[in-house]
Amino acid sequence: MEFSIKSGNPEKQRTACLIIGITEPRRLTAAAKAIDNISKKHISSLLRRGDIVGKAGQSLLLHNVPGTLADRVLLIGCGRERELDEKQYRNIINHSITQLGQTSVVEAVSYLSELNVKGRDHYWKIRQAVEITSHNLYEFKEFKSNKKAAQKSLRKMTLTVPSRRELPTGERAINHGRAISNGIKLTRDLANRPSNVCTPSHLATQAQHLAKLFRSIKVKVLDESSMKKLGMNSLLSVTQGSREPAKLITLEYKGNKKNIKPIVLVGKGVTFDTGGISIKPANAMDEMKYDMCGAASVLGTLSAIAEMGLPINVTGVIPAVENMPGGNATNPGDIFTSMSGQTIEVLNTDAEGRLILCDALTYSEKFNPAVVIDIATLTGACVIALGKHATGLLSNHNPLAKDLINAGQTSGDRAWQLPLWDDYEKQLDSPFADMANIGGREAGTITAACFLSKFTKKLNWAHLDIAGTAWSSGKNKGATGRPVSLLTQYILDKCKTH
Ligand code: BES
Ligand code: MN
Ligand code: ZN
Repeated sequence: MEFSIKSGNPEKQRTACLIIGITEPRRLTAAAKAIDNISKKHISSLLRRGDIVGKAGQSLLLHNVPGTLADRVLLIGCGRERELDEKQYRNIINHSITQLGQTSVVEAVSYLSELNVKGRDHYWKIRQAVEITSHNLYEFKEFKSNKKAAQKSLRKMTLTVPSRRELPTGERAINHGRAISNGIKLTRDLANRPSNVCTPSHLATQAQHLAKLFRSIKVKVLDESSMKKLGMNSLLSVTQGSREPAKLITLEYKGNKKNIKPIVLVGKGVTFDTGGISIKPANAMDEMKYDMCGAASVLGTLSAIAEMGLPINVTGVIPAVENMPGGNATNPGDIFTSMSGQTIEVLNTDAEGRLILCDALTYSEKFNPAVVIDIATLTGACVIALGKHATGLLSNHNPLAKDLINAGQTSGDRAWQLPLWDDYEKQLDSPFADMANIGGREAGTITAACFLSKFTKKLNWAHLDIAGTAWSSGKNKGATGRPVSLLTQYILDKCKTH
C-alpha cells in the first residue's frame, strides 16, 4: 500500500475516488462544500432528499459528479461535528476504507483528515489514517494456495492537509504511520503463522532478518547450552519437554549515543503452549499458537522505530520456547533455581510464561536499562477482567505506568492499570521453595505480575498482559498487532522529552 500527502482543492483532483465527509444534521464539510459549489448543488440536493444525512456509519457512492475531475465521490457520514472524538474519527476512517473495499477502486484521495478532532493535530489525524487504512487492508494468505482470490484492490491512498504550510507535518505523519504499520504487519504475520512454522528458531531467524534490513539493529541468539551456563533453569524447565530448541534472542537498536540507557522490551515467545504436563483442554487450543504475541510485538516495535530512525536506544529480549508434555517434561512439584538464585516450585506447568520471563528479566539487568517493559499473553484471568479492549498494566514505577497509559490514549491502543500491592504476594508462598509459580484462582493477573515483580526489584519495570488484546477469536480469528502502536507511541513520546 502506498500513501502520499497533498494540499489542494477537492474539485481539482483527478482520481478514481474522492472521499468526502458529511456531518449531522445534513451539514457539508469544507471539501463537501467545494464539490457542492462546482457541481451546481448536487450534494446539497442529495442531502435534502435524505439519501444521506451525515449519521456515523452512513455512506453514499456517487458517479460522474458534474464539474469534478474524479470518477467517483464517496460521501461518508461522520456524525455530529461537536461529538467527533478520537474513537469516532478512527471509526470514520475505517468505515471509509471498508466502503471502498466494496468497489474495484485502486486509488483514492481522502479529505476526511480535515475533520476537527478535539485536541488532535494534523500529524495525529494523518498518522492515524495511515495506520487504520493499513490495518483494515491487512490480509494473511501465506497458507492459501490461491493467493489472488478476492484480493483487495486499493493500492494507493492520497491524504490531504489544508495548505502547503502543513505539508512537511503531513509528510512526517505519513512516514511514521507507514513505519508503524509495517511493524504491525510484521507482528501480525509472525503471530498468525502456525507453530509448525513459527518455532523459536523461526523467531530467531526473523530477528536476524531485521538486523539485515536495518544496520541500526544488532542481533544475538543464545542457545540452550549458553542459557544453562547463565543459570536460566527456570526458562529451560519450560522447554525440556519439547524437541524444538529454545532460543534467547537479543536485538539492540542504537539510535543514540552508546552511554544513553536503553528502554528494554521483553516479549514472551511461547511458540505453542499446550500447557505441558498440566495439559490444556482441547477446545480452542489452536489459539495457543498466539502465545508468542509478546515476542512478535517486540520485533514489530523494533522494526517500526528502526524504520523511523528514532534518536533513542531500545533493546529487545525474547525468550522463545515451546511448552510441550513429554517424557522429559517438567512434572508438577518440580523445583528449579532461576538465574536470580531464587527457587521456584512449579505447581502448574501451564503457568510457563512467568517461568521464561523471570530469567529474561534478570538477564535484562545487564543492559543497565532506563526502564524495562515486558509484554506477554500471560493470563486467561486478564481476558476475564478486561476483555479484548484493554491491555492489563502492572508496574513498580508510577511515572512509567502513567507514560504507558498516555501512550495508549494517543495511539488508541489502550492499557488499564491493576494494583501490584504486596497484599497479593502471600498467594505465591510455597512450603518447599522460595515461591510457587501459581497463586490460586483469585486475581490471577495480579499474582502473575507479583511473581515477575520478585525478579524486577532493581528495575523500573512495567508488565503488559496482552492475553485479551493480541488476537481476536471467532470467525475473524487473527492477530491484532497490539500493543505495537502503544509501544511505539511510548518510545516516540520519550524521544520528545529527551
Ligand atoms: N498462555 C496462557 C494464558 C492465556 C490463556 C492467554 C488463554 C490467552 C488465553 C498462559 O500460559 C496460561 O496458561 N496461564 C494460565 C495460568 C494458570 C495456570 C495460573 C491461565 O491463565 O490459565
Ligand atoms: Mn500456559
Ligand atoms: Zn502461555
